[in-house]
Amino acid sequence: MTQQPHPLSLTLKILFSLTLFTSLPLTLGQQPKVNALVAPIKKDFSTSLYTIALNSTKQFLIDLAGSIVWSACPPNYGLVHCTAPICNEALAFRYPDCLPIINGPKPPGFCRCISSTKNPVTGACFAGDETLIHIFVASTDGKNPTSLASADYVNICAPQSALAGLPPHTIGVAGFGRTTLVSLPARLAWDLSFYNQFALCLPSTRKAPGVAFFGAKPYHLLPPYLPDISNFLSYTTLLKSPNNSDAAYYLDVKDIAVNGMSVLFPTHELKFDSTARGGFKLSTIIPYTAMRSNIYKPFIEAYKAATKGIRRMPRVKPFELCFDTRALGSTRVGYSVPPIDIMLNDGKNWTIFGANSLKDVRTNTACLAFVNGGRKEIPAITLGGFQMEDSLLHFDVPNSTLGFIPTLRGLQTTCSNFNFTSGV
Ligand SMILES: *[C@@H]1O[C@H](CO)[C@@H](O)[C@H](O)[C@H]1NC(C)=O
Ligand SMILES: *[C@@H]1O[C@H](CO)[C@@H](O)[C@H](O)[C@H]1NC(C)=O
Ligand SMILES: *[C@@H]1O[C@H](CO)[C@@H](O)[C@H](O)[C@H]1NC(C)=O
Ligand SMILES: *[C@@H]1O[C@H](CO)[C@@H](O)[C@H](O)[C@H]1NC(C)=O
Ligand SMILES: *[C@@H]1O[C@H](CO)[C@@H](O)[C@H](O)[C@H]1NC(C)=O
Repeated sequence: MTQQPHPLSLTLKILFSLTLFTSLPLTLGQQPKVNALVAPIKKDFSTSLYTIALNSTKQFLIDLAGSIVWSACPPNYGLVHCTAPICNEALAFRYPDCLPIINGPKPPGFCRCISSTKNPVTGACFAGDETLIHIFVASTDGKNPTSLASADYVNICAPQSALAGLPPHTIGVAGFGRTTLVSLPARLAWDLSFYNQFALCLPSTRKAPGVAFFGAKPYHLLPPYLPDISNFLSYTTLLKSPNNSDAAYYLDVKDIAVNGMSVLFPTHELKFDSTARGGFKLSTIIPYTAMRSNIYKPFIEAYKAATKGIRRMPRVKPFELCFDTRALGSTRVGYSVPPIDIMLNDGKNWTIFGANSLKDVRTNTACLAFVNGGRKEIPAITLGGFQMEDSLLHFDVPNSTLGFIPTLRGLQTTCSNFNFTSGV
């Protein structure tokens, strides 16, 4: 099943493009059919956050749970009408704790779209005009970048002050959330008329970038003899929160096991309660997985029990359990430590091995990279960036399905192995 813009939305798109005051080129019919786009992902080691480069070099923070893109707008940006579908969707996904938006006429007679959003790192709210920003993104055959495709993204104009707390040289935030029109992947898919699917592969090293694919497979990583790695994906259902303004992706988790044994904790908290609290969320904004205290404590105890014989080191904040790395063996998938199984309701396991569970913090010390989220954490568990590094995650948004490979190291590759040398 592929999603094509139907004639009405196509007409609306042209209509709303024309309501822009700048003369942005229309992308329709001007370029050959593009099946997929590719862009590099960098990890910033000062914040442990990830950025994607758009329009070749402009860095945007990746917010997997964000609904829209925001950045400063150029001086003569076009306005979007307040009844446009892209305006309605931005308003539907705005943060309820950010001030309500008053759509005022400017210029006279034109009801312009203003929306609010927040900086996901600092939590600071701001409001701004909605506009479309035109960029070029590399198309791909899945093996190399091929040519440049023309697209635009839906952007909320942000004041410079909104950039506080983001990695250095980042000019905005790219939301990859579960929307149909305004997130970066949704808009690129719509612009280029492909199905709204994307794959994220977060790098663990600064040596070479990781990769984001928008659109159809194949997804190839070096070495060249490896087949399309999408062949190795396991699939599971993605859940959405009953909270309609939450664009995040959630996993349907029934239990967690350490070294093959279930951790004893209140597993019902992995479901949403009547006020939309609970659940198991995916986030690129927190570096390490956060668990509510009543889950974290039994989890740490289970891990201590499973690693009883291994020499400990003094704790290094924010972690609690640290090991002497000289006492640990190493494997293709990281330190040889007990695996952590995130047991999904449909019978699959997302297994976390040493490379994604133990973080090297100083010479001879590596710590279990999970943190105590406190008693009142809204999602019961939020899977953080470190646990998703060198994982391939394929989001089929309309079908709410996640394809995942918990670690590519098992296939003797990593996220930093896409060949960014142009193939043409
Ligand atoms: C994107 O890149 C093109 C070509 O380099 C440049 O002309 C344009 O101003 C850039 N747009 C943005 C929004 O950065
Ligand atoms: C609903 O989700 C939004 C966006 O994540 C969040 O700001 C808000 O606090 C949530 N509301 C509840 C009641 O959980
Ligand atoms: C998932 O993990 C649990 C706990 O380690 C294990 O008992 C079960 O066999 C695993 N299931 C699959 C399909 O690997
Ligand atoms: C949609 O999701 C279901 C399970 O949620 C899966 O069985 C089916 O193959 C998926 N369809 C596509 C086109 O991926
Ligand atoms: C990367 O792609 C380029 C262009 O297709 C090719 O010439 C080069 O050999 C590839 N590199 C590797 C290591 O395969």
